[in-house]
Amino acid sequence: MTKTRVLTGITTTGTPHLGNYVGAIKPAIAASQDPNVQSYYFLADLHALIKCQDPRRVQESRREIAATWLALGLDTDNAIFYRQSDIPEIPELTWLLSCVCAKGLMNRAHAYKAAVAENDAAGNQDPDKGITMGLFGYPVLMAADILMFNANKVPVGRDQIQHIEMARDMAGRFNHLYRGDFFTLPEAVVDDDVAVLGGLDGRKMSKSYNNTIPLFVAEKKLLKLIRKIKTNSLEPGEPKDPDDCTLFQIYSAFATVEERAAMRAEYEAGIGWGEVKNRLFEYLNEHLREPRERYQALMEDPGYIESVLLQGAERARAEAAPFMDRLREAVGLGRFA
Ligand code: TRP
Repeated sequence: MTKTRVLTGITTTGTPHLGNYVGAIKPAIAASQDPNVQSYYFLADLHALIKCQDPRRVQESRREIAATWLALGLDTDNAIFYRQSDIPEIPELTWLLSCVCAKGLMNRAHAYKAAVAENDAAGNQDPDKGITMGLFGYPVLMAADILMFNANKVPVGRDQIQHIEMARDMAGRFNHLYRGDFFTLPEAVVDDDVAVLGGLDGRKMSKSYNNTIPLFVAEKKLLKLIRKIKTNSLEPGEPKDPDDCTLFQIYSAFATVEERAAMRAEYEAGIGWGEVKNRLFEYLNEHLREPRERYQALMEDPGYIESVLLQGAERARAEAAPFMDRLREAVGLGRFA
């Protein structure tokens, strides 16, 4: 039986936070343990350059994200875990796809359109002001990531669905033009069941809102951040609504069904906000302690992280390199003899 190939990338511009863990990392690590699945997880560090031109931040984020996934138990014997920038076939495929991808398709990409709309709103004469070719061609690089490994399923957030559709479009166009079944058409997988966590200010926890709780902050800082989470002005003794509460939501993302029900009852009985915050801290801290220790040890051993990623790259390239030879041949760039 051939395994389903599941692939996803993580753009390396930030520090992993609780929202990333619940929404993406935890389900990905669980999926990688399924024997019917071959998973490909990679650091989308070429994509990072589109958004971030601070080399130290990019470098640091790559190391933090790699250490986070390893600390949380990603099994790198099963999953192929690599850096996009270690696979030279990816930018090469990006070019082949760029040459079959309609420019008009890219004009319709949400990220590009949003940037143009921003220029418009700011009254800029040039609608493309400050927009790089990297941003414009972002979906082509992403298509190369996916098509390089003939991924069947691509777990992503809703905002990325359009990019998967564009990858399908490019795959179909290439297959048609060069008369072959070169590329598998990928499917986006959006999990509506995973919790979207609220952040410190109650809006969705996101790096762009600057309201995150980093997954592996030190204990004291964790307590401080939890104390900062916005609540309403109900006093201890007054019943509270757990369904409209960021604290309860974060707790729920980690707690068991029974623990959740018990906390719900406490809300109804009028537990005070200070007490909820203490409990949430105790609970999270206890659950994060071990992976946090592993994370810190990994961060102090960059040589180890490097070796794991290079092994991943080797496995990835064992597929990418021969496939790229076939694609070169298909477009007329094969060897002469
Ligand atoms: N664009 C994705 C994001 O911002 C990251 C990404 C890059 C990706 N390449 C990918 C996701 C390939 C899935 C497949 O979330």
